[in-house]
Amino acid sequence: MRLDVITIFPEYFEALRVSLVGRAIEHGIIDLHVHDLRDHTHDVHRTVDDTPYGGGAGMVMRPEPWGEALDAVLDGADDDPLVLFTTPAGRVFSQDAAVHLSGERHLVFCCGRYEGIDQRVVDYAASRWRTGELSIGDYVLNGGEVAVLVVVEAVARLLPGVIGNPESLVEESHNARLLEHPSFTKPRVWRGLEVPEVLLSGDHGRIAAWRQQAGLERTRRMRPDLLG
Ligand code: ADE
Repeated sequence: MRLDVITIFPEYFEALRVSLVGRAIEHGIIDLHVHDLRDHTHDVHRTVDDTPYGGGAGMVMRPEPWGEALDAVLDGADDDPLVLFTTPAGRVFSQDAAVHLSGERHLVFCCGRYEGIDQRVVDYAASRWRTGELSIGDYVLNGGEVAVLVVVEAVARLLPGVIGNPESLVEESHNARLLEHPSFTKPRVWRGLEVPEVLLSGDHGRIAAWRQQAGLERTRRMRPDLLG
């Protein structure tokens, strides 16, 4: 999968060189390209923002650098790219969305900052490519960079060859509407606290039933909204 990221903070994306996603990049499963939006400015201050028309607090990202950056990244792309803007005003990201995105060949992430990007950039992109607007939750970050890290990690781990044991993905998808059961490892007794006996029984039927029940109880307690 090819990933392009356009941002004024390329250094945020060094984090993707770590751990499983880092290995996926090394192995060529992910082809990551991070672009500095300021490379598409033409003034000494490398300005990317300005005051909003209509007044109000904060700054808005100017359209010219974005237009140039998008054209530079996307002109000539013949792999039907999907351009994604991260914004708190977008559709809320979910595991289902991650599964959908993991089937794409080429994602281009646009990281907004300040009060967002001039709307004409989003409209222009939509006139030329497939586009979407994604939020990672109902809270406001300082910019879209951290949101892109979240989305990329959730998508990358679904790509074939990224996770060592693909069984764990199958388990997750079965439990998509339920929270995971609690997990335990060695030692069997730690500070007087014991691992539930059933998990030591070797009885796979009983273990599966216990896990199902524990996941259900946890969901009832923490996320009753998932049960409808
Ligand atoms: N930018 C600022 N807040 C955001 C959010 N919650 N999701 C995606 N991008 C954002």
